[in-house]
Amino acid sequence: MDRRGFVTSGMAAGLAGFTGASGAIGTFLDRAPGFARGKTLANGDIRLSSNENPLGVSPAARQAIIDAIVDSNRYGGRRQEVLDELARFLGVKTENLTLGFGSTEILQVCTQAFQGPNTPLIMAEPTFEDVMDYQDTMPFEVHTVPLTADLQHDVGRMRELSKKRPSVVYFCNPNNPTGTITNSADIDAWIAEAPETTVFLMDEAYLEYVTDDRYWHALKWIEQKPNVVVIRTFSKIFAMAGLRLGYAVTHPTTAVRLNEHVIQNSPNVLAGAAAVASLRDEGIVERSIKVNEEAKSIVIQTLDELGLDHVPTNANFLMHRINGDLRTYRNRMADAGLLVGRDFPPMLDHNRLSFGLPDEMDRWASTIKDFRKKGWV
Ligand SMILES: Cc1ncc(COP(=O)(O)O)c(C=O)c1O
Repeated sequence: MDRRGFVTSGMAAGLAGFTGASGAIGTFLDRAPGFARGKTLANGDIRLSSNENPLGVSPAARQAIIDAIVDSNRYGGRRQEVLDELARFLGVKTENLTLGFGSTEILQVCTQAFQGPNTPLIMAEPTFEDVMDYQDTMPFEVHTVPLTADLQHDVGRMRELSKKRPSVVYFCNPNNPTGTITNSADIDAWIAEAPETTVFLMDEAYLEYVTDDRYWHALKWIEQKPNVVVIRTFSKIFAMAGLRLGYAVTHPTTAVRLNEHVIQNSPNVLAGAAAVASLRDEGIVERSIKVNEEAKSIVIQTLDELGLDHVPTNANFLMHRINGDLRTYRNRMADAGLLVGRDFPPMLDHNRLSFGLPDEMDRWASTIKDFRKKGWV
């Protein structure tokens, strides 16, 4: 199976022929039945700062949500149907699954289930910070390990740290905020030899966007390794961030443990309806990837034209230099109606830009070119 087919469990058939030719996306969207783009913010600003999917939920999910509204007075969000569809989509069993209020809930319950005063968390810096924030309510040590020069997780150093005692290791792969991948072979070599007291949280929020062949997902471990938790979300590729649905894929014994911690009766009625429809919509993964590729190529071309360095990305965002003060740059972009990035120490000389729709990225491109004329970037 080719890499993309492998990554998306066969849902992205036909992708191989995608060229990302500029202009193709308009026609493509025009042909998508029932397609309506995701909304910009109420004041007309364009948000390019939260790694959302700008397409909006799929037409099928939109209709399913409308149809499900009348069920909103009842408990029960088609939980079993969601589990069945998700298991089918991933090629796993329902016993392997834990549903959460976004993958954020999964990360939170992983800290509850595995973390403790004698079990430190080992994670990269910079990476998605959420998991270490639960330290505020439940004391555990956090060891941060800087990314390597090519912005991969420093697998060797993280591994050394884990040798001292039971540990929880967080891998964000692809990594947010850098968009870079860490070689899956290096991670696999560690997982294969690690004791069960080293728990691996494999956050794969952006896996469908990966184009680098050195990356593959971690699902193959779940049957043999109860200490591997694969964490995924409906927020990105399925454009359901506001509906809040994420999940863990694990060994059945780990799923039992995690399910004891999650809020019962997930998902809610509307998220459940949207999830079932999205999982049955065979084009949605392909559409999201296509739009992302188109937006990405506009951004890369613009940055290259301006000579602004950027980090090779495998996600729906990238980091780039701006030649100047980051806050001033963001404020100026906000004045132009474009919300871009936030601080990601220690990379304070880079801005993280999330990809919007191609026409939104055209607007960003003309704005940053204008900044160059003014000597601002
Ligand atoms: C790497 C990563 N993991 C998890 C999340 C949380 O996503 P959600 O709670 O919407 O599933 C995000 C959100 O941006 C993220 O970037």
